Amino acid sequence: MTVDTNRARKLKDKAVRFYAKGKYDKALIAYMEVVKADPRDLSSRLRLGDLYKRLGESEKAIRVYGEVADFYAKDGFLLKAIAACKLILEVDAGHTDTQSLLAELYASKYGKPMPAAAAPAAPAPAAAPAPAPAPAPAAAAPVPVPAPAPAAYESLDPPMEALDPPMELADEVAPSFGEIELEVGGEDDDEDEILIDLDALGDEEIDVSEVEPPPMIAAPAPKELPTIPLFSDLPQDAFITLMERMTLRRLMPGDVVIRQGETGDSFFVVVGGTLKVYREVDGQAIELARLGDGHFFGEMALLSEDPRSATVEAVDEAEVFELSAGLLTELTGRFPSVEEALQRFYRQRLVTNTLASSPLFRPFDKEQRRELLGRFTALEVPPGEVVVEEGKQSEGIYLLVVGEVAVTRGTGFEEVTLARLTQGQIFGEMSLINGTAAGATVRAIRPCTILRLPETAFRELMMTHPQILEVASELTAERERQNAALTGGGGMEIDEDGLLLF
Ligand code: CMP
Repeated sequence: MTVDTNRARKLKDKAVRFYAKGKYDKALIAYMEVVKADPRDLSSRLRLGDLYKRLGESEKAIRVYGEVADFYAKDGFLLKAIAACKLILEVDAGHTDTQSLLAELYASKYGKPMPAAAAPAAPAPAAAPAPAPAPAPAAAAPVPVPAPAPAAYESLDPPMEALDPPMELADEVAPSFGEIELEVGGEDDDEDEILIDLDALGDEEIDVSEVEPPPMIAAPAPKELPTIPLFSDLPQDAFITLMERMTLRRLMPGDVVIRQGETGDSFFVVVGGTLKVYREVDGQAIELARLGDGHFFGEMALLSEDPRSATVEAVDEAEVFELSAGLLTELTGRFPSVEEALQRFYRQRLVTNTLASSPLFRPFDKEQRRELLGRFTALEVPPGEVVVEEGKQSEGIYLLVVGEVAVTRGTGFEEVTLARLTQGQIFGEMSLINGTAAGATVRAIRPCTILRLPETAFRELMMTHPQILEVASELTAERERQNAALTGGGGMEIDEDGLLLF
């Protein structure tokens, strides 16, 4: 069947508006129209389930959730199927068919093919009912039809060596909310009619017990369920425990899951929808990535014990599983493969973000930065080790990704500490700009991860992007002023423009 996406989107906008205004009976009718217009829009079917639940029609809610769970299970969407099962268990914790389906899902993850119909044979896992979450705050803005679901959950960032150009996800997932909004425009008579019909629902209450759920579309042929890379090595009991202890969170466009600078105490896996990751640098929001099905986030604050490094916000309607920090620690403690996978992503994201946030590399777009990464060499430097030695030729320009270095001049009693540099700062630029030997020694004072861009590559970049020369020259001038102030001793002063006064 063909789907008129423009019409489906308009209907959905309408449905979301009813939902946002708390007119749940009208929203139910509107969502019914949405799924009639686009029977494959399973997230709207889930919303129908939510509405039945909210309006006290538990059986119908369970029926709709169950059909969606079954469809996802057969279509090979493991996380989405589990999420729909958890919604049923929130309505009825002892729902045996669902417990059986969950057991089948767990079992099929371990090699048994999915049955054509869920067979309630396996012993039901003790599914701890998640506490019923507060309804997602309804956004006033209309919601576009989400982009078609990406192929499968295993579309997680592929494993990467620390310095492989990182595969950012932005380009793979849904177009931005804004882009979709712009398309809304042309209306034909047919659409008008439907919209007017919904408008004409009036203020009268609708008896929702009369409203039967829409027929389910034909279930797909069962596919093999993918593994979830982060959790693929978990033994069955650990996987089951994990699935039971994760909480499902439903998000509306604009909902913030993580806010930059806050303390982190949980970790998230995306079940559906798109989320954007952005960071404020010097008052400017820099988008770092877009995350879709199967991607995870929130690991950085937990691994580093630093505040949240970025804000993560839903772009369209989205669902995420939330795991507590305690649960993640239990997992990483027991399963080194989970710890290794998290560490790998953590390091790769750190590198991407450091490059994206550094004023020196800001003139480059995402694609260029990705390419640029391939030209850097990563150095793991233990405390005490010298990276740049005063009086010697510097081997390039350095970008500090993790750790702290001290910058000193002179030796013994004469040694002066000029600066301490931390994450995101660069060094080695002064001698390159001035064409001299290094004017100071740079030594790690904590374990450091440092990226080095060789001198030749740096000079090439300055040719193609003269802004780099400008930023590096400004930084050099600023540091020269500071050094002069610190080392100049007797009588040397600096005026308000930073010029030396003799
Ligand atoms: P945390 O710092 O705990 O909170 C914000 C999260 O955004 C962060 O963990 C990562 O999980 C995620 N994040 C940060 N930078 C990127 C990136 N470049 N690509 C994907 N996800 C990221």
